[in-house]
Amino acid sequence: MRITQPGFEHHLRSGPRASGFAWLLRDIRPSQRHNRIVDAPLAASRRIVEGGGHVSAIRVTEAWYIACLVRELGSTPLARTVLGTPLVLFRAEDGKAAALLDRCAHRNVPLSLGRVSDGQLECAYHGWRFDGGGHCRKVPSLCTSPGFKRSIVPHYATRESEGYVWVFMQPDVEPPSEPFRLPLLTECGYSTVRRTVETEATLHATVENALDVPHTAFLHGGLFRGSGERNRIKAIVTRQADRVQTEYVGEPRPEGMAARILAPRGGTVRHFDRFILPSVAQVEYALGEDTHFMVTSICTPVDDFHTRMYAVVSFRVSRLPAWLIKLVLYPVAMKIFGQDVAILRAQTKAIQEFGGENFTSTDLDLMGPQVWRLLRRAEQGKLGEDDDPAWRREIDIEV
Ligand code: FES
Ligand SMILES: [Fe+2]
Repeated sequence: MRITQPGFEHHLRSGPRASGFAWLLRDIRPSQRHNRIVDAPLAASRRIVEGGGHVSAIRVTEAWYIACLVRELGSTPLARTVLGTPLVLFRAEDGKAAALLDRCAHRNVPLSLGRVSDGQLECAYHGWRFDGGGHCRKVPSLCTSPGFKRSIVPHYATRESEGYVWVFMQPDVEPPSEPFRLPLLTECGYSTVRRTVETEATLHATVENALDVPHTAFLHGGLFRGSGERNRIKAIVTRQADRVQTEYVGEPRPEGMAARILAPRGGTVRHFDRFILPSVAQVEYALGEDTHFMVTSICTPVDDFHTRMYAVVSFRVSRLPAWLIKLVLYPVAMKIFGQDVAILRAQTKAIQEFGGENFTSTDLDLMGPQVWRLLRRAEQGKLGEDDDPAWRREIDIEV
């Protein structure tokens, strides 16, 4: 599928995603027609869809996002869109990843149509050459130096870390922070699986889905949690300046197929759901003494209604080899993936068709409103501040 908005040059895939450990399966690539949105100024915290309603779309620019996998960045320019901003990535003269706005300063042709020559990005139209900092280094046929004193194409700071190329989405600045670091990657006894999945949903809806417990018994009934008897447990939500966490206390091992395979001896569940600004959803499960899963989904908001998730599953299952876990859980996780991606797509379609959101929440919607609050504050430049650091909520729920 191809996005039709000007400047969006990327084929988007919508892929199933799922809550919990279902992430350890492979990338999935269904596709769906993209609905046209009306773009709004970057500073606005809510985007306008046709019809004029509000949508929980947000653009936190003072933050790091994953632009691509390190292995995707080869000898040719790579076009990527982040936060609705077209970027071009390439390897500069020093061999490091560079990211520029994908718009030639001369006549605005996408630089990603060009080529990389001696670590400089050469525009496909008149051959102007740019370095990794966005400076014009050469204008073909011009007998003198181009004479531009400053960078003339906005550039974005990059980092290569843990297999990903990250970009800091404020142009022409030295970032005040470093990208998110993944846990458990080098921990003894853990295996790791990485997958990239795209959803047709806002960052907020995608994160909420990843961290939402109540839908697992309903939408995924019988696959993860059982569809039969419910258990009353306690949910404790706590908040820090850059994150919100829900801890679920007292849950017995679920009766669904996947949980039976992972923890045949039963036991209790230790379960944490976390959101970490600007875009990390993390689900941690320990099932009995046998199994520990950490699913870290680092989200890149491609645009207001498309989110790419870089999911990293680190797991330890005693007594069972990692390859067997993947083999046995594959069909279960495929089903969960399909259900989640379909419901998110349907949600987005309905919101767009009705011209905006009209949400109603209860106490059971533990994470969504808190995630939205953090995102709003971050967009307003209050990243890392919390006006009520002692905030905490405890409720009883049935799962
Ligand atoms: S448009 Fe790029 S060199 Fe002219
Ligand atoms: Fe789900």
